[in-house]
Amino acid sequence: MGVYSEHVLPRIVDFACNLKDVHPQRRRVCDGLAGDVVEIGFGSGLNVPYYPQAVTSVAAVEPADLGWRLAAKRLGETSVPIRRAGLDAQTLPFPDDSFDAALSTWTMCTVPDIAAALRELRRVLKPGGTLHFVEHGLAPDERVRRWQHRLNPIQERLFGGCQLTRPIVDLLRDGDFTITELDVYYEDGTPKVFGANSLGIARPS
Ligand SMILES: C[S@@+](CC[C@H](N)C(=O)[O-])C[C@H]1O[C@@H](n2cnc3c(N)ncnc32)[C@H](O)[C@@H]1O
Repeated sequence: MGVYSEHVLPRIVDFACNLKDVHPQRRRVCDGLAGDVVEIGFGSGLNVPYYPQAVTSVAAVEPADLGWRLAAKRLGETSVPIRRAGLDAQTLPFPDDSFDAALSTWTMCTVPDIAAALRELRRVLKPGGTLHFVEHGLAPDERVRRWQHRLNPIQERLFGGCQLTRPIVDLLRDGDFTITELDVYYEDGTPKVFGANSLGIARPS
């Protein structure tokens, strides 16, 4: 990791992902989580305040050391046991059938091999387990998509590999997940190219 991705980008993410319009979405996506949870792309722990009481533990998977350090205050303010248990969603260091649920918020845009990460999530989820997700991705409208394709190279360079053009719902289905709840919308207060969000719950098929 370079100086920018190690020392600057996690602070930008902590700021940008903490804006006021983001928090209602965090509350919605965390609703219904229960038991042992794996969260990929834990970042600076911005979902921690929204873990329901039914969550018994969280295994945080996050490559950025600074992200984990920025989470310290939030970790101190929750009663949920949270441990940094992995560094890369593409190779999860857990046995099969380990978790009741998984959580991913604005992370599937950045993990380089998202198909590998979804395979790993399927493997570590217990039968009947759920993946709660809110992700930005390829917009429903062609005009917005054209801009996303134009801006993607800049986005990728500035934001640690983040892609504007991933078709999140298709990737989940291709990864053998069945989507049981889904809301596709443009995020308030965010330009459509960056805020074409998919929020929902998926289960291994
Ligand atoms: C846009 S940030 C979102 C952070 C957090 N999920 C949130 O909602 O605030 C994307 C996160 O994915 C993490 N990430 C990047 N590559 C990853 C990988 N291979 N495995 C797990 N997390 C990764 C980044 O370090 C960053 O924290």
